[in-house]
Amino acid sequence: MAGRTGSRDEVIIVGGGIVGCSIAWHLSCRGRRSRILERSEPGGLATHAAAGILGPMNETDSPGPFLDLMRKSLSLYPAFVEALAEETGLSPDFSASGILAVAPRPEDRAALLARFAWQQALDPSLVFCEAAEARSLEPALTGEFDSAIYYPDEGHVYAPRLIKALLGSLSRRRIPLEQGITVSRIVPSGQGTLLVHDREGGCREAEKVVLAAGALLSDIEIPGTRIPVSPVSGQILAVRSPGSFYRRVVFYPPHGYFVPKLDGTVVIGATEETIGTRTRVTPAGLMEFLAPLSSLAPGLLELPLHHTWSGLRPKSPDALPILGPHPECPGLFIAGGHYRNGILLAPVTGEILADWIEEGASPLSRPFLPDRFLKTGDR
Ligand code: GLY
Repeated sequence: MAGRTGSRDEVIIVGGGIVGCSIAWHLSCRGRRSRILERSEPGGLATHAAAGILGPMNETDSPGPFLDLMRKSLSLYPAFVEALAEETGLSPDFSASGILAVAPRPEDRAALLARFAWQQALDPSLVFCEAAEARSLEPALTGEFDSAIYYPDEGHVYAPRLIKALLGSLSRRRIPLEQGITVSRIVPSGQGTLLVHDREGGCREAEKVVLAAGALLSDIEIPGTRIPVSPVSGQILAVRSPGSFYRRVVFYPPHGYFVPKLDGTVVIGATEETIGTRTRVTPAGLMEFLAPLSSLAPGLLELPLHHTWSGLRPKSPDALPILGPHPECPGLFIAGGHYRNGILLAPVTGEILADWIEEGASPLSRPFLPDRFLKTGDR
């Protein structure tokens, strides 16, 4: 067979973003060795583009398994980043800064109160703030608005620094990461292993394969079908503040946010665009989330523009992650569809996939199993 390496890996992970690297790291913590295959730069599609918000409550409109999964992953963050920092000396700039979700107008207040009612039943530490109190929590909010919910335990992490620390740790643990490998097809070998074919003409063999290729997951041909994940582009920018005056992440409608980072950068985002795998930054896109700031936090619009960029979020048909084994291809696992929450869900995804590979089960993943999209009848 053309390009067959001859060696056989225990586990091959396809995708060197935050999700693939977290899975490799969690496997390594359990003494399991994996090999990561990355098409381009590690973290290049979504991780480096992410604002790094760790905010479960704002990312769903109802209680349920998805919110539980996000809250579980948030609870894993302090130990995860501490372990990485201890091992590598690199800080991912994790901060449990607190998050504010703002109701701009009096007519938005009722919806915010309804959200507060069900969320506070889950977490009594949440606070409903009048504008003055919210302003005292976040000095950037000098403009007019009605009220806000304060989530004291949520926060953010610097995603590019997180993946740098994760890569540093994987390198110390001698977990190989091969770049420039675009995986095209997974095929059972007929002898209980899987063959991983790439576009460069290579073929590797592994006992288990995890597909964690983010927004490009559906480009990989797997037995019987493809995984239905599509890219949703997000434009985003960063401004520089002369000091660290700003403290909390703030969400504002329709889907805007700003994230004051520990180094004084303030990240402001983001659009949601379905335009294939194209990434672009447009004045109209930036205006979508900058315009509301003129009445909410006008000072941010006066800060020097540092950088604009865009990235690709991987979205499944029901906007929920796809986590666990392929229903009919033994040894093949999927970790995809993380959409708006790949950074937040990275630690729990690492645990779930390591549980599947090590123990053959993970109760946490039950509502997110791939079989909802990959059943025989669907083909
Ligand atoms: N998590 C924020 C975003 O996807 O824009």
